[in-house]
Order: sequence, then structure tokens, then C-alpha cells
Amino acid sequence: MKTIIEPFRIKSVEPLRQTTRGQRERLIAQAGYNLFLLHANDVLIDLLTDSGTSAMSTDQWAAIMRGDESYAGSESFFRMKRVVQDLTGFRHVIPTHQGRAAERILFSVMCRPGHIVPNNTHFDTTRANIEYAGARAIDLPIAEAADTQLRVDFKGDLDVAALQRLIAAEGADRIPLIMVTVTDNSGGGQPVSIRNLEAVRAIASRFGIPFYLDACRFAENAWFIREREDGYHEWSPREIARKMFSLADGCTFSAKKDAFANIGGLLCTNDDRLAAQETNLLILTEGFPTYGGLAGRDLEAIAVGLEEVLDPDYLRYRITSTAYLGRHIADAGVPIVEPPGGHAIYIDAARMLPHIPRSQFPGQALAVELYVHAGIRSVEIGSVMFGEASKHELLRLAIPRRVYTQSHIDYVVEAILEVNSYRARIRGMRIVEEPPFLRHFSARFDWAD
Ligand code: F0G
Repeated sequence: MKTIIEPFRIKSVEPLRQTTRGQRERLIAQAGYNLFLLHANDVLIDLLTDSGTSAMSTDQWAAIMRGDESYAGSESFFRMKRVVQDLTGFRHVIPTHQGRAAERILFSVMCRPGHIVPNNTHFDTTRANIEYAGARAIDLPIAEAADTQLRVDFKGDLDVAALQRLIAAEGADRIPLIMVTVTDNSGGGQPVSIRNLEAVRAIASRFGIPFYLDACRFAENAWFIREREDGYHEWSPREIARKMFSLADGCTFSAKKDAFANIGGLLCTNDDRLAAQETNLLILTEGFPTYGGLAGRDLEAIAVGLEEVLDPDYLRYRITSTAYLGRHIADAGVPIVEPPGGHAIYIDAARMLPHIPRSQFPGQALAVELYVHAGIRSVEIGSVMFGEASKHELLRLAIPRRVYTQSHIDYVVEAILEVNSYRARIRGMRIVEEPPFLRHFSARFDWAD
């Protein structure tokens, strides 16, 4: 059969609430034209993020009922730890309440002022946590990533030559770790090849620098490798994932993505000394090492989710359905980051709205328009989120896992094509109120003119 179906049926449903255009115009103005400040109830299709928004399976809900809520030595922790060790091979598995808590602990222990942490592209929380530790976060995407229209199989790869130049210029002792984000979220949800991970591994080993994966979407990355990288077509997603983890010294992980959990994160390492320091910090701010800021039932949901996400039928559906949205809008003339990513489609807002200068946030203007037009919530990934460090002005449509059906996506396609037809009328924006850090969460905007 050519039709790829959702590999699940629906047992429990949540109603969606319709609003009128007039209501949405008022609601978004009250929210300072910042979609993070809307009430979720006022959103029809929520593509703000794929993080923590997955639908859990019957097996996950069943496991939740057996969650062991013991303060110390919870059986749920040991179950989760076995699953993670079997998948990643890392000795130390430190549970945190979400990915950024793992990042904060890792960078607090490893980074000092003057340090530099390279990555293919840092996500906003990794960048912010590194800067908060006084270090500098540097993005080293491959040159091809600069052209959103170029179709490259592994556009998430890190520029290995640039990494070597950075080490030569700054010295290995100023680089406490190298990170690679799989898939490259801020770079368009693009995958990283095994070949590239092997090259980074070789450099890290040569200079004695630890190599960490930001592994939020490891399973989606593994599927792209199976589809696109020579030598891996016959490998199972689990075998590929194991190979990816085997090349790293540790990882940070947000269980809110490829573990289908609503909350949770992990910090993993093979370094006993680091693990001891990290565990001390964990106890200070997250919790005892056998729960780390999570309930036992959350640990159970993660343990089951990490197994489910590697099901080939699920991953085939996942990657195909994201591409379905991408192809339907791109082939009708909406410029997206090509090729479609794993968890999201990114519209190149600067290219779609060339009359809006970067200083007037084309991605934000498009996000507001899509909400007002059709009740769809998306997120700007550009100068609002990253300021000067931003390489593109993108609008991300992130697809929650197992949540929306094809008809929801058809509605999104229709809405985007309608907005595209009157794009010349969309106006730019300016910031009228701005916090000092992570401004995209709470800045308020108004029209630029
Ligand atoms: N790293 C990457 C690549 C991410 O995409 C995220 C979160 C994190 C780290 C932090 O994890 O949210 O559990 O603390 N990304 C979400 C998103 C928020 O919308 O892309 P967290």
C-alpha cells in the first residue's frame, strides 16, 4: 500500500475549541502579539512545540499506574535506568525534570568564564545555560545550512573543518566539551550523519575534549540515517541509535521529545568524577538521584516511551507525515527549510516576506498572521529568539507526536497557502517591552508602523 497511515487508533479525545477571527485579533493584541502569552484554550491547532505535547500510549498510561513513588531506590528509576543504559551504553544516568536542567547541571560543572562550547547549532536553552555559566556558545553548522533552499541529506552536520580551526585558534583547554544536537532543531530539524559524528569523535579524542550529544530527537535522527546514509539501510533504528550514542562521552536529553513523555530529562556520562559532581548539584536543586525532580510515574512513562519511539512503523509515519506538510506548502510556493526536518517544518519567513526587514521580525509577523487567520500557533525561530546570533528568520511549525491526524494537517496546509496568497499585506513588528534574557517567552510587540 502506498498510503502511510497513523500507526495507532484513538482511545481518548480532547475537544478543540473554535474561535472567530475577531476574537483572535483581540486575544493576540492582549497577549502583546506574543504567542507564548496566549491561553492554550484559545488555540485551535497548537504547533508551538513538539516538546511535552505527545499523546501517550496505553502502555505508557498502564506503566504510570505502577509508578513507584519511593523517595529513595524507586523501582521505576531502576527500570528506566536499565532501558537507558541498554540504549545508550552510558554508565551514569541522572534523571532531571527536563532537558534544560540537565544542561544547567552539565555546564555548571564543566564551564568557566572564557570557555567556548561549539555545537552544530545550539538550542536556545543550551546557549542560554552556557552563557549563564560565563562561557561562549558557538554554532558551527556546515556551509550548506546557510541556504535554506538547498536539499542536502545531512544538513545538520557540524562543520568539522571549522571545529578544527576553532580548536587551533582558541586552544583545546578553553573548550570543555563539544556538543552535537540530533536532530539540529534550530537549524531546521535536520539530521546529522554517523560519518559526521565519527569525524567529531575523532577530533574530540585527538584533543582530549569530551563529546556530548544533545539527544532530544535521537530516534528521528536514527531514522534519517537509515533512509539516507550508505551502509545503514538494513540497520534497525535501535542499532543506529546505539551506534550514535557509542560515539559520544555523554548526552543531555529531554524526555519531552523522543520519549513521548510530558515531562522529564536525562544527563548521562561515562565519567565517574563528573557524575559525582553532577549528582551533588542534582540533589541541591532537582532531587535525590533516583528521581531527580520527577515522580516515579514519569520515570515509567519515559522507560516505555524510549522503547516505543524506535518502532520502525512509528518512525516511518512520523518522518513521512512531517514531510507531507512540508511538501504540500513548499510545492505550492511557500519557501521552507529544505528538505523537511523530522519534528517540524520551518518556513523561511525572510524569503516569504521580503518586504519586512529582519529588524521588523518577519517570523514573528507571520506567526501572528497565521494565528489570526486560522487559530494555528507556531513559533518564531529567528532574531526574536536568538538576537544577533540568528542566521535565519524562520517560523517553526512543530508537530506534536501522535496528536494530530492528516485532516488537521490538511487544514494547516490550507491556512498557510491562504496567508501566502496575501503575504504582501503582512506588516512588520517592533518590540515594545523586553526582558533581559530569553526574550521570546515574554517580550511584547506591536506593529512596526
Ligand atoms: N535541546 C534541544 C535541541 C531542544 O529542542 C530542547 C527543547 C532542549 C534542549 C531543552 O529541553 O525543553 O526539556 O528543557 N526544545 C523545545 C522546543 C522546548 O520547542 O524545541 P527541555
